[in-house]
Amino acid sequence: MSTSHAQPAVTQPHEVEADRHVLDDIDTISETRPLPEPDPAELRRMRPEALPTIGHIGRYALKYVIGEGGLGTVYAAHDTLLSRLIAIKTLNVNLPQAERVRFNDLVLHEARAAASLSHGHIVTVHDAGTSEQGSYIAMELLRGRDLRHLLSMGWKPTPEQAALIVRRVADALSYAHHKGVVHRDIKPANIFMVGRTQPRVLDFGIARIRQVESLNQRDDEASRFQEIVGGSPFYMAPELVRREPGDRRVDVYALGVVLYEMLAGRRAFTGGSLEDIADAVLHQPVRPVHEVNPAIPKDLSDIVAQAMHREPDRRTRSARRLSQALRDWLDAVDGSRPVASESPRRQSVRSGWTQPVRWVMALSLAGLVAGLAAWAWLRTHGG
Ligand SMILES: Nc1ncnc2c1ncn2[C@@H]1O[C@H](COP(=O)(O)OP(=O)(O)OP(=O)(O)O)[C@@H](O)[C@H]1O
Ligand SMILES: [Mg+2]
Repeated sequence: MSTSHAQPAVTQPHEVEADRHVLDDIDTISETRPLPEPDPAELRRMRPEALPTIGHIGRYALKYVIGEGGLGTVYAAHDTLLSRLIAIKTLNVNLPQAERVRFNDLVLHEARAAASLSHGHIVTVHDAGTSEQGSYIAMELLRGRDLRHLLSMGWKPTPEQAALIVRRVADALSYAHHKGVVHRDIKPANIFMVGRTQPRVLDFGIARIRQVESLNQRDDEASRFQEIVGGSPFYMAPELVRREPGDRRVDVYALGVVLYEMLAGRRAFTGGSLEDIADAVLHQPVRPVHEVNPAIPKDLSDIVAQAMHREPDRRTRSARRLSQALRDWLDAVDGSRPVASESPRRQSVRSGWTQPVRWVMALSLAGLVAGLAAWAWLRTHGG
């Protein structure tokens, strides 16, 4: 994450609750593809507080490694003070002692800005600090899998499902952008799915931390590519690959590339080396997603192409615009679907009556008809 100003917009604690966005929780689309079942090892870990402790960071008892990233390790941990489970991300960098203090300050600075974000589709940051093992960020422990993992397993969301997921991520980014916070490392690995249409954006702040680490390297071609490797080259906006300053539109671009991949079933850019990938991002023509996958409607493909336009000035102007374009597309698809093909739940939402309400109405009507019939019989036979 970076901020558009020298200092990020950090909210005061009392502002956070007021900021909390209401989760747009109801799936407003009829067809979704379920996420794969959790693997048995994950199910066994449902109560990690009962697992043996493998180490400590600050007051947190580490339980198991969730995964390794570019900068460190993510653990499931037990917060012994508040008695709850959390996730801890360690940030292990190889820096000289003098640089380390500056680095730790930066981690705290970025973590503070990330913690000021309170949105239903952004992971909640609880705490940050420095321990003997280096800096760490403590956050909400999420259940599910990140999008990179899901896509690599061959999971294919329906076009509507992909549009809804990305619309929700765009809402989260729009919220962050309005607080002066740009993510700069949007990629499938940083979009965690806790339900089939419920994303959580991870790792606000990490791009800037990584950038400072790479500034420590020599400023030559090799270190330039090292920086590119850190942030994923596949989703990096052309202006960042050219090392020009990027603004919030780099997030719009990256999210467009993520949507392309979800719809096409393959990455927008490929290459055997970093040079090849950089060349593809900067110069190679991109096949429209509806040509790669004919099941994708042309108007959805156009939204993707607009979001990942190479020229920032001709790209979808903001995350809010991208969200709105996807919302309009979803509404149009919904409006054109014959009612008979809708799921019962969707029909209920559309008609405004839930299933129980309809049953009560049907029974009341039947009672009324029976009452009228009895009254008519009594009138004719009752003397
Ligand atoms: N809050 C969380 N709850 C549950 N799992 C998480 C959480 N944060 C990260 N993970 C998982 O931990 C693993 C490592 O995440 P990490 O962010 O370090 O990897 P990355 O995104 O590939 O690398 P980087 O962020 O350094 O570019 C991933 O599988 C990720 O899905
Ligand atoms: Mg990550």
